Amino acid sequence: MMYVTGDTHSDFSRFKMKNFPEQKEMDKNDYVVICGDFGGLWSGSKEENFWLDWLDGRPFTTLFVSGNHENYDMLDALPAEDMFGGRVQRVRKSVMHLMRGQVYEIAGKRIYSMGGASSHDMEDGILDPSAPGYMRTKRRLDMQGGHYRVRGKSWWERELPCDSEYQNSEKNLDLCKRRVDYIFTHCCPTHISDIIGGGEYKSDRLTDYFDAISQNCDFRYWFFGHYHDNRVIDQRYVLLYEQIVRIV
Ligand SMILES: [Fe+2]
Repeated sequence: MMYVTGDTHSDFSRFKMKNFPEQKEMDKNDYVVICGDFGGLWSGSKEENFWLDWLDGRPFTTLFVSGNHENYDMLDALPAEDMFGGRVQRVRKSVMHLMRGQVYEIAGKRIYSMGGASSHDMEDGILDPSAPGYMRTKRRLDMQGGHYRVRGKSWWERELPCDSEYQNSEKNLDLCKRRVDYIFTHCCPTHISDIIGGGEYKSDRLTDYFDAISQNCDFRYWFFGHYHDNRVIDQRYVLLYEQIVRIV
């Protein structure tokens, strides 16, 4: 079995037995995929580790792609290993990061994953803790209820893929003749985000890259999160938030 859901932001209560009773029939060869903003690695706190252990104790394997709300210092520090025919990073024995630009065979399906997204809820910008006047600016924004992020604390440049991840992605897609069953990402192609946001969301290199993928790859369904809604667009693009949908 394979289920897919949207952003969890470190709150895994949707996987409690009462909210997700389907897990009674599942084992570690069954999968739940989180389409980015996993959030389980954020501060390294005791509570955070408790919830990662709790997730590891569920009767299924949790897989996630990266979003824009991840602590990339923690994520990048994890060693990568071969799994499902691609590269993964293991957070716990049965909690794994599906890395960027990878093609996997999971539950009999060919999967392409490419996490990452531009943060779009920070109109007051990114503060640099090493910049002069940082504390003063932060205090002012806090008093005004401003929407900002702090570099290395709540925002990382690594929220978007780097050149080598795009190169890997092209190489791996060519190797499978650009044919997959499912695509898992956090953001979506530009032409789809234009429909979701009515033009409100800015395109970037990643959404434009996904536009190209939507043209030059065969796929059955494209699952993504980021926009905090549950909605199917253009028949094959499935935006998920709290819903948990069975796909295998
Ligand atoms: Fe999110």
